[in-house]
Amino acid sequence: MIEPADFAFFQRFLAERAGLNLWPEKTYLLESRLARILRAHNIDTFAALAARIATGGDLALEREVIEAMMTHETLFFRDLKSFDLLRETVLPGLIAARARERRLAIWSAACSAGQEPYSIAMILDEMGDRLAGWSIRILATDISTAIIERAKTGLYTQFEVQRGLPVRMLLKHFSQTPEGWSITKNMRDKIDFRTFNLLRDPSPFGVFDLILCRNVLIYFDANTRTGLFARLRRQMAPDGALMLGGAETVLGATADFVPDRDTPSFYRPAPAATTATPRLSVAG
Ligand SMILES: C[S@@+](CC[C@H](N)C(=O)[O-])C[C@H]1O[C@@H](n2cnc3c(N)ncnc32)[C@H](O)[C@@H]1O
Repeated sequence: MIEPADFAFFQRFLAERAGLNLWPEKTYLLESRLARILRAHNIDTFAALAARIATGGDLALEREVIEAMMTHETLFFRDLKSFDLLRETVLPGLIAARARERRLAIWSAACSAGQEPYSIAMILDEMGDRLAGWSIRILATDISTAIIERAKTGLYTQFEVQRGLPVRMLLKHFSQTPEGWSITKNMRDKIDFRTFNLLRDPSPFGVFDLILCRNVLIYFDANTRTGLFARLRRQMAPDGALMLGGAETVLGATADFVPDRDTPSFYRPAPAATTATPRLSVAG
């Protein structure tokens, strides 16, 4: 059993380092995930693990604790309706708006094992000639280095390819290997996978036309969400789109984005506030 003081320590540590909002009902989850670390490192108690983390300096152990608490649940084309809107409305709108530059930048901001960015890459591939000669950048990031390394391999189990992936796409983009279903190198090469903590400043990544930040905000507290929306807003083109998970919204959390009425689960950057006083037209 974890003592209340040690629970409070890990609660604070995980909130500060990963934005994770851990409430007391999650005590069992914390215990079961950390128990594996105790066994692997021959540490006797949660208190001893807390003491080692509190001393600082063991970055690998800190990372292990953070990674152990992450939930990587994901699937191809998760929330199919949202992906249909992406394919039929949001992407065509962005493509029309970028017809001159022929450039598109997309960021999957908590990509887990890669199903989300690969789903996007497959949609873009279907657009074929419409995007011939375009420069398309897909950045995919996650706080967990282990899950990013997995995503890079593009290898999925039978169970994973049966969740959300249309058979025609499985046949077109994957081959069956002894290790599992392997996505083509062509698809893997389209995605730039990197470890990145959403609590950090993403400005070195540049500006994006489309940002997917899905099923991760649910783990954050209100302040963390508000701060993250502000950072995402700064990295988004003025006519860009933010795609959230089905259970997530900007409402009540930020004025940086507004819902796009035509495409539920997509949000647009709020127009920048202006301090200029409106000009009065003087008659006569
Ligand atoms: C439930 S998965 C969602 C994956 C995918 N976006 C989807 O909707 O299917 C949440 C992911 O967020 C990542 N995550 C949690 N906290 C994070 C943080 N502070 N920075 C970056 N990624 C984080 C986790 O490692 C996990 O892979």
